[in-house]
Amino acid sequence: MPAKLAIVAQKGGPGKSTITRALGVAYSSAGFKTHLVDLDAGQTSTAKWFERRSLAAAELGRPELIDNLTCSWARTLATAEAAIPASAEIVVYDGAPHATQQTVSLAQSANLVVIPTGISVDDLTPAITLALDLQNNHGIQPATIAMVLNRVGDSDKELEEVAALIREHLPDIHVIAASIPERKAYRSAQDSGFAIQEVTYPSLKQRATSVVEALGELL
Ligand SMILES: Nc1ncnc2c1ncn2[C@@H]1O[C@H](COP(=O)(O)OP(=O)(O)O)[C@@H](O)[C@H]1O
Ligand SMILES: [Mg+2]
Repeated sequence: MPAKLAIVAQKGGPGKSTITRALGVAYSSAGFKTHLVDLDAGQTSTAKWFERRSLAAAELGRPELIDNLTCSWARTLATAEAAIPASAEIVVYDGAPHATQQTVSLAQSANLVVIPTGISVDDLTPAITLALDLQNNHGIQPATIAMVLNRVGDSDKELEEVAALIREHLPDIHVIAASIPERKAYRSAQDSGFAIQEVTYPSLKQRATSVVEALGELL
């Protein structure tokens, strides 16, 4: 059985696809056969990203960009399952745009549930609500839930306050200490088929890498 990571959220835009792609690139480049399942069947944005990455690999003469990495999209978990290569060692699920019963089933079958979130109250409230629901109503062990702060600003104090707020509601889940700032370079990288840790700016590369490594340690 491959290891399963579920990247889920209650609302659109917090960074599910961003984290999914970053994990996909990290694991595949480390040599693990990695499959991405895009469950946003309306947009299929990670499947499209994978096409851009495949094109970039061909155009740049860098086939290693897609070594060990495959991707499919699906509307249901059952059809998703059917498209996963038998050789897959790691499967990363890019969750549907809104949390549904499918999100619960996915989380229940995952080794690690990752909830990306922005840091405004508007963003944090649904993220905390989703984690509480998974933990309290659906039997998900809090130690298998990790929250990633994305699109953060430059204030460490603000980040500490956010982490404290999450801990107050969810003392037993992981809040990844590294966070991802809001930067155009991250958008541009993904627009070209790259992942956030593949940006050229060393400090941004480091921050994205730290998040991916911290998640890897929880698996
Ligand atoms: N930290 C960030 N800085 C800049 N742009 C970001 C950042 N995180 C995500 N984005 C961009 O915001 C959009 C939404 O992010 P995405 O990962 O697709 O969210 P989701 O999959 O949860 O809807 C994408 O265009 C993505 O490139
Ligand atoms: Mg998405």
